[in-house]
Amino acid sequence: MSTNDIFNSEFSRRYDASNARFSPISANLHFLMALQLQDLPADAHILCVGVGTGNEVLSLADSYPGWRFTGVDPSADMLAVCDQKIRQAGIEHRCDLLAGYLEDIAGGEKFDAVLCLLVTHFIRQNDRGGIYHQIAARLKTSGRLIVAEIAADMAADNIDDQLRRWAALQAYGSTSAPTVEEIKQLFEERLRVQPPAATEALMRDAGFSAPDHFFQSLLIHAWAARK
Ligand SMILES: C[S@@+](CC[C@H](N)C(=O)[O-])C[C@H]1O[C@@H](n2cnc3c(N)ncnc32)[C@H](O)[C@@H]1O
Repeated sequence: MSTNDIFNSEFSRRYDASNARFSPISANLHFLMALQLQDLPADAHILCVGVGTGNEVLSLADSYPGWRFTGVDPSADMLAVCDQKIRQAGIEHRCDLLAGYLEDIAGGEKFDAVLCLLVTHFIRQNDRGGIYHQIAARLKTSGRLIVAEIAADMAADNIDDQLRRWAALQAYGSTSAPTVEEIKQLFEERLRVQPPAATEALMRDAGFSAPDHFFQSLLIHAWAARK
């Protein structure tokens, strides 16, 4: 499964600092995700697909001290930052990191939950259904899935209004503001944005229960589902 090449060394070093201005959004997403997962066993093993710099691991590890984490990501540069943060937090004994894709995880271990946060919009629409089938294969019976992605119905009547608000968010704490046309171009060329209903259909096709659309901040959506 392919990705793009933006998650290089320089981008990875800047990723957390550049996203700090959006922390009210990520804090809320992580808070609600922790609530969604609160009935998992005290010794749950969580797979984080596209773990990046590990923000979701650090957030959940704090709330659930008995949980273990496996993080997989094709960017060795993002994983290097993640590894450093995990060591600083003193939780390296609870975490395994693997450079690669879901299909590169050796062995047949099944997980209590899979998190896939802000990853799927980088996967081409034609390939995107596959990741939900791969995730389902890695989950225990009744295992849980949390997905967050940038999603939008680009044919909606009010799409330009939605994109103006998205532009304002991108401009917040930054010296430059994208135009609506630039965002449309980015969504066509780099981020493969699709309507939320299309994502829910992919989850159902892979055998997940009716997805619970538990979070939305502008174009950032998140769902919880059960295998
Ligand atoms: C925007 S970052 C999100 C990181 C982290 N999950 C977070 O919420 O902060 C996206 C990450 O997905 C990874 N990625 C891109 N395509 C992927 C794929 N097909 N499978 C797994 N990870 C992928 C990238 O390398 C990058 O680290």
